Amino acid sequence: MSDSPVFDDLLDEQREFPPPAEFAAKAVVSGDGLHRKGQDDYQAFWEEHARELDWYQPWDTVLNWTPPHAKWFEGGKLNITHNCLDRHLGTWRRNKAALIWEGENGEVRTLTYQQLHGEVCRFAAALKGLGVTRGDRVAIYLPMIVEAVVAMLACARIGAIHSVVFGGFSPESLADRINDSSCKVLITADGGWRRGAILPLKNEADKALEKTPCVEHVIVVKRPAGEPFPCRIKGGRDHWYHRLMESAANDCPAEEMDAEDVLYILYTSGTTGKPKGIVHTTGGYSVGTYATSKYVFDLRDDDVFWCTADIGWVTGHSYVVYGPLQCGATVLIYEGAPDHPEQDRFWELVARHRVNVFYTAPTAIRAFMKWGDHLPAKYDLSSLRLLGTVGEPINPEAWMWYHEHIGGRRCPIVDTWWQTETGAIMISGLPGVSTMKPGHAGTPFPGIEATILDEQGNEVRTGSGLLAITKPWPSMLRTIWGDDERYVQTYFTKWDAQTYFPGDGAKRDAKGNYLILGRVDDVLNVAGHRIGTMEVESALVDHPAVVESAVVGRKHDIKGEAIVAFVTLGGGRSLDDALRYDLKAHVVQKIGAIARPEEIIFASDLPKTRSGKIMRRLLRDVAEGRVLGDTTTLADGAVVEQLRESYEEKYGG
Ligand code: WTA
Repeated sequence: MSDSPVFDDLLDEQREFPPPAEFAAKAVVSGDGLHRKGQDDYQAFWEEHARELDWYQPWDTVLNWTPPHAKWFEGGKLNITHNCLDRHLGTWRRNKAALIWEGENGEVRTLTYQQLHGEVCRFAAALKGLGVTRGDRVAIYLPMIVEAVVAMLACARIGAIHSVVFGGFSPESLADRINDSSCKVLITADGGWRRGAILPLKNEADKALEKTPCVEHVIVVKRPAGEPFPCRIKGGRDHWYHRLMESAANDCPAEEMDAEDVLYILYTSGTTGKPKGIVHTTGGYSVGTYATSKYVFDLRDDDVFWCTADIGWVTGHSYVVYGPLQCGATVLIYEGAPDHPEQDRFWELVARHRVNVFYTAPTAIRAFMKWGDHLPAKYDLSSLRLLGTVGEPINPEAWMWYHEHIGGRRCPIVDTWWQTETGAIMISGLPGVSTMKPGHAGTPFPGIEATILDEQGNEVRTGSGLLAITKPWPSMLRTIWGDDERYVQTYFTKWDAQTYFPGDGAKRDAKGNYLILGRVDDVLNVAGHRIGTMEVESALVDHPAVVESAVVGRKHDIKGEAIVAFVTLGGGRSLDDALRYDLKAHVVQKIGAIARPEEIIFASDLPKTRSGKIMRRLLRDVAEGRVLGDTTTLADGAVVEQLRESYEEKYGG
């Protein structure tokens, strides 16, 4: 099991935070009725929530479960953009702010539901005009601008499948993702602001486009305000977004989608070098994101909800776009970095936009702690009433800091465990119901059934084991794009075809609160971003100097984990600073800056078991200085051999 940034003795955590009476009195849900409903009949629970959405045609069956393949709400027809947009137009919410966007440079743009609906319809019509139809794949490589939300919704409106690629991924990663699902269209921008500099997205995309014959059209958003970043527009293939919008029809009816039609693909890292295209479908995902947004974030009509995730990640899909918009919420979107122009930018935003519900990642909270208590203290944060975290285990110190310095000791904190694959929050306290414990994600969301198993599938009552989800849920992934066998193998063979294996270690306290320990597979969690060790290893061995490499995670105060790479080099080469720099740059070029190794360690040989498996646990100990002290090289083959032997003695071969 991987070492977790959370302390092992966390089960001794005694501090408890029951829902503040004032909060519970006004909460969307209080008492245990909702949890009981979910337990009594999970299908009836989800069906009841499906009924809160609009459907063109109701479903015939709630669940068709042929393990490990689930179909939810079969026979039902809907369009998620109808529930995100059109449905609000017949109510007073028509003129309510759907999006409040702030650029890094401070410009603000607000779109009401009516206006967002108009933009989405026009862009959907423009996509249709380019020949995009139901089932076509469309790649989106955009900064955090309004058009990113418009692009996603426009695809969903006409039944095209979007595949959003985070703007920080390299051209090579973008090309791989575009080709894997043969996207017909790419939507990008001339640039986006990040930490005072322009990220030249179109120029980056151009490099990817040299290797993506499937792309017929490229749509380029001119990032509003400021000088457009110079980029090439290739006649016939490339189109300016604003030009298409000028001539597009104002109306574009939503396609009536089957509940099981694919809504989107989102790539995430796994244990091989190739990212997995996680497939989400329309009906179940709508219901899951809607219900979790409503109850976990306790959304009220006068709230400003700010989820700080980029739309390139699943959190941005489910809790910037689909969940809150289905609830008719007002969503704040910020384009840039939290430390630009100063490290108080987030608190300044919270104070000025009077944010009520704030959802971010532990890595960000740890950075805020380091930057200092005086920064949030400068601002009036009294509008905040609920806080959330996601993406990695939160250490109790960070939890307490968040509670005191951001939440003013009055805001409940929801620590939400879920994954790209689960589509929606799976384990989390409900703010008006649950007693929160620092570092604990709490109990499964109503309608979700989880447990902890050992390798053999026996339930673990005390101590740590493997988290397991034992019943299907509406927003679960349906498959991996183009590789259903990998879907079955990765998620449903650990125990049996009924039981989903998320790849996380966990413990439970006596009251059934889950403590998530982090990944148990070869997936790292660096600043809340999933990165496969094999992906980084493949990038390194792609460099001509590297013969073999092994990548492990090392604890990091802010990022949770940092990447440490061991490399063996060809031709008796030694690792000097220039080569170290070169290798790091090579990984950035292959994958993107999020995968840049923090340290590269030279190894004359990599310690392997007799069956040839790299001993990662030993390498983690070396990387963290637990053996060999501060040694940053494994240059002596005899040392490696000796280490291997003493390790095998201790832990078995
Ligand atoms: C980790 C992000 C502890 C976990 C939504 C999971 C967490 C992976 C938590 C999924 C949490 C996410 N506590 N660990 N509250 N939330 N994780 O796919 O290891 O980017 O498997 O989805 O993040 O990351 P992903």
